[in-house]
Amino acid sequence: MKHIDNLDSRLKTIALMVRSETRLADVGCDHGYLITSLACDGIITGGVACDINKGPLDNAIAEVAKSGLNDKISCRLGSGLEPIQENEVDDIAIAGMGGELIASIIENSGWKSFEGKHLILQPMSRAPYLRRWLLQNGFSIEKEKACSSAGHDYTVISAVFIGENKDIDEYDPYVYIGELFKDSSDEAERYLKRTLSELEKQRKGASFGNAEREKALTQLIEKIAPVIERR
Ligand SMILES: C[S@@+](CC[C@H](N)C(=O)[O-])C[C@H]1O[C@@H](n2cnc3c(N)ncnc32)[C@H](O)[C@@H]1O
Repeated sequence: MKHIDNLDSRLKTIALMVRSETRLADVGCDHGYLITSLACDGIITGGVACDINKGPLDNAIAEVAKSGLNDKISCRLGSGLEPIQENEVDDIAIAGMGGELIASIIENSGWKSFEGKHLILQPMSRAPYLRRWLLQNGFSIEKEKACSSAGHDYTVISAVFIGENKDIDEYDPYVYIGELFKDSSDEAERYLKRTLSELEKQRKGASFGNAEREKALTQLIEKIAPVIERR
């Protein structure tokens, strides 16, 4: 049995998007299960685990040591990508945080370029914000896969840098469904239906005094509802 098979479905979905033979940055690693499982299975050659808080990082340090991976995984305290040099890693996982925080971590990396890197991002909230930010900031979304954890459904986004900033409107349907329309799983169906019902709620809220937003949301819902139904 592989080590990644012991991860919960959310972390395993993330693990399966990491490319083989790469060096991984696990940003906000907490317990360090993701990076250690991938290294134990020989999927990654090593990498860097980092966390902004000492308690979680200490857990990761213990996990790395217990797994005999001290020579392959470096554990560092710090915010976002700041503790990592861009030539040290190939794939970057940022999981279990809000979509806005994930975007700000990429934005504030201080790195010159993300060319050749693969980002595996799992927002706990505000996925539309993150999708739009990625497209506006030179990234393309390659793939998305829905997953479920503790009764909640989430999306895992795999993105690459293409260097082309897209001018994408906040009411563009892609901002809300991304690449998930290609995922035929029950998790994706639930996730997309919840996205639709959240938009319905926002439309209702806008109907009390914000006619312009209500109209934009109505048009958006009319565009994405059939796409979700057709899946
Ligand atoms: C909910 S846990 C997720 C852990 C793991 N990535 C996962 O998906 O299971 C979030 C972790 O991110 C860390 N964190 C929050 N903000 C951060 C930042 N700006 N830079 C690095 N780590 C951060 C927290 O300390 C915490 O350990």
